Amino acid sequence: LSLWISIINAEFYVIDDQIGLGRRFDGIGGLSGGGATSRLLVNYDEPYRGQILDYLFKPDFGASLQILKVEIGGDAQTTDGTEPSHMHYEGDENYFRGYEWWLMKEAKKRNPDITLIGLPWAFPRWVGKEQSSPYHNPDVTAGYVVSWVIGAKQYHNLNIDYVGIWNERKFDAEYIKILRRTLDKAGLTDVGIIAADGNWDISIAMALDPQLYGAIDIIGVHYPGTTTIPQALWTRKTLWSSEDYSTFNHNDVGGGCWARILNQNYVNGRMTSTISWNLVASYYEDLSFGRDGLMTAEEPWSGNYVVESPIWITAHTTQFAKPGWRYLETVGNLTHGGSYVSLTDGKGNLTVVIETMTHDHSICVRPPLPPYKVFPQNATFHLKGSFATVSELQLWYSKFDFANSKSTLFKKLQTVKVFDGFFTLSLGVDEVYTLTTITTGQKGRYTDPPNSSPFPKKYLDDFDVRNPSFDEAPNFADQTGVFEYFQNLTDPGAHVFTLRQIVTQRPIAWANDADQTISIVGDHSWRDLTVTCDVLIETVNTGGVFIAARVDKGGESVRKAMGVFFWVFANGTYSVTNDIDGKMVRAEGLSGTRAGKWYTLTLTVEGQYAYGMLDGYPLWKNAVILNPKNGWAAIGTYSFEYAQFDNFQVLAD
Ligand code: GAL
Repeated sequence: LSLWISIINAEFYVIDDQIGLGRRFDGIGGLSGGGATSRLLVNYDEPYRGQILDYLFKPDFGASLQILKVEIGGDAQTTDGTEPSHMHYEGDENYFRGYEWWLMKEAKKRNPDITLIGLPWAFPRWVGKEQSSPYHNPDVTAGYVVSWVIGAKQYHNLNIDYVGIWNERKFDAEYIKILRRTLDKAGLTDVGIIAADGNWDISIAMALDPQLYGAIDIIGVHYPGTTTIPQALWTRKTLWSSEDYSTFNHNDVGGGCWARILNQNYVNGRMTSTISWNLVASYYEDLSFGRDGLMTAEEPWSGNYVVESPIWITAHTTQFAKPGWRYLETVGNLTHGGSYVSLTDGKGNLTVVIETMTHDHSICVRPPLPPYKVFPQNATFHLKGSFATVSELQLWYSKFDFANSKSTLFKKLQTVKVFDGFFTLSLGVDEVYTLTTITTGQKGRYTDPPNSSPFPKKYLDDFDVRNPSFDEAPNFADQTGVFEYFQNLTDPGAHVFTLRQIVTQRPIAWANDADQTISIVGDHSWRDLTVTCDVLIETVNTGGVFIAARVDKGGESVRKAMGVFFWVFANGTYSVTNDIDGKMVRAEGLSGTRAGKWYTLTLTVEGQYAYGMLDGYPLWKNAVILNPKNGWAAIGTYSFEYAQFDNFQVLAD
């Protein structure tokens, strides 16, 4: 009886493939980079690292992601750090830097069908022929990007499916055409171009320029707020939300945002893919946009990671619809709030995803979300066409519980019986339902990872690694410049294996890199500590290096970083400043330092005072430091210049 009462009160929705199909579903993805968002992931020990990757990529386990988009490193700050370029200098080529190659291989290992995308945020300076635009010499820029695609194949056997232009920066129609031609000339006709990773303007430009239209495969926009513009639809091109989400992943609002946009990007905007910035929050949480990833893995030292709700919200779609499936024409908004999409493989399989996210529980970082209401409601679905004979559907269910934080996530409920093509659901608010003929869904699970713990208070790295798997030293997070393992073949002494800063020119930037280079490490809550490091200035007369404590800012705010910076210069002087910019001097004097000679610097900060030693002898003391009260340890250089570091140590209280 209750069934019939609810049907009478229900709104009706038809699910039908006879009236034709909608667009191709292209998959749901995650974005590593833009920038350095996977920095800490690579340093996890097994089995935890593999488990995290399984939650992200393994089919029918967790998020089962269908797209991995990565940054093509450009040696510049791109939100949470810098990522190294495959061509630091003109003529330089190295396809083993950074961790994106590794990540793409790990993703492919788990899902050979995963779509791979590369997009630059920034470029080394030489690419622009010393100008601050990558379009100044478009042939060089196209060659640079195409080299990355070729390198992926040649050194890692990775087929890149798409490349982009310049993240959220002006596009240049000429450059896009040149990029297309350069790809074609290299035989990479299968590599598509996504443009322009910004707003919808590109679609207007495409309508006026047939060559540009021909060069672009996919219109990719960022944070579209689930809507599109008529001009984009008129192009009849594939539309993607090629970057979206960027919302704190806990308290479930992140999950709510993600559930709403995954459905509504298609329902309202006909976008057939949504890509999360970012894939996994694997960067120090106090950097920009801390924990805006599908899950959290920011403690390689403890092994702790957290599978957050967006992982399970992703699974609601990805485990039941593969790229190549088609949306049906029968998708839409629910009468009392929320939305539904339906998809089919064209072979009789059907997946329906319903979400009823309320406004306040699904606000994404941007754009602002206009007010709307969602009410509990009964919804009756009428299956027609190929689906008229379906007799039961698997049911997967999530409900965000904001009052008691007892959310249900991706739970398999009893199969739904379909009577004569009808079934009725009693929908609450803040829920996600998947109804599907696919029976392979699984809520994957590993035993809990180790407990969370702070960064070790005693930390040392002598950088003595003969064949490192990665070019970067664990836990150092470059915020301007790039710090790489280096081997001093001419120095038979104590400093054969070092860490070297190698960016010598301000890159074609995306964010505001500092005028100095800096790599941070440790715990942002560190207050009193001693930092020791051997340093080598390489630039005569004008060079300089620093070690630092209590560095309070990085990411996009790196230029404004405050802390205690102990500098020595090639001109025989030292200084102690409160800022990375070197303006707020707290002590200065002669040190006798010069380029080409190793020194040991020691910096101690205790309460309001700082002390410094050079080669074990006191050089300055009682510098007064009132602020900041805490921050990371760091190393760096005075300008974009070569310099080396060895035997780095921290002892924190
Ligand atoms: C995007 C950008 C990302 C990241 C994100 C943070 O606009 O492309 O790199 O900065 O914003 O919300």
